[in-house]
Amino acid sequence: MKIEFLDTVDSTNDYIRRYLNGRENVIVCAGTQTKGRGTKGRSFLSDEGGVYLSALIFPDALPAENAFRVMAHAAVAVCRTAEAYGIDPQIKWANDVFACGKKLSGILIENGFSGKFLKWSIVGIGVNAENDLSEVDTAISLSQAAGRNVPVEQARETLIEKFLKPSTFEEYLSYIRFLGQTVRVTEGVREYDAIAVNVLADGRLEIDDGKGIRALSVAEISFRWGLK
Ligand code: BTN
Repeated sequence: MKIEFLDTVDSTNDYIRRYLNGRENVIVCAGTQTKGRGTKGRSFLSDEGGVYLSALIFPDALPAENAFRVMAHAAVAVCRTAEAYGIDPQIKWANDVFACGKKLSGILIENGFSGKFLKWSIVGIGVNAENDLSEVDTAISLSQAAGRNVPVEQARETLIEKFLKPSTFEEYLSYIRFLGQTVRVTEGVREYDAIAVNVLADGRLEIDDGKGIRALSVAEISFRWGLK
């Protein structure tokens, strides 16, 4: 796999689009990003000391309804990376990785479809490694969670190594620890408590709000977990 490293770039997800016309899988890493992008149009803080990388992959005949497999795989790669440093990670559906109750990593996937198939996928992963998060109460780095310094170069290497190994959906599910627990769901203007029942292979979260089980996509709801 071709791997490119840039000191700084606007966003590795945007930069990697220049390879879309080829058929070659490629990974682009950057030391910092000036316009790091998060999900739901948010920006993603991308200071020195974090891992910022995007992988462009061309899956072989992956049906569009299985596109969530790519997301799940990326989240598993981050969890395996955290475990390599003795950290116990959890996935907050759909694809944030948490450690010690704080956000360790975010993932932004951008897909291109051709008919019923996923043609290409840009998998953007940001992991806090040794960046200064003293101003951000809700985030944690590998170094903080491990209780020792985890150099960003080492974290990047580990993440790439884990990303290049195959994973299963069962492995993804094994990192989801809030199933069976009460979560606070925000769906449009409505906010309610529900039991998180399952994550389906297409990525939807099944919840039981007392009136029955419904499967909802990450675009339809946001939720808070860890409620007492
Ligand atoms: C999120 O938590 O909302 C997702 C964050 C995704 C950040 C990564 S860093 C590498 C890649 N480039 C970007 O601009 N975003 C993703």
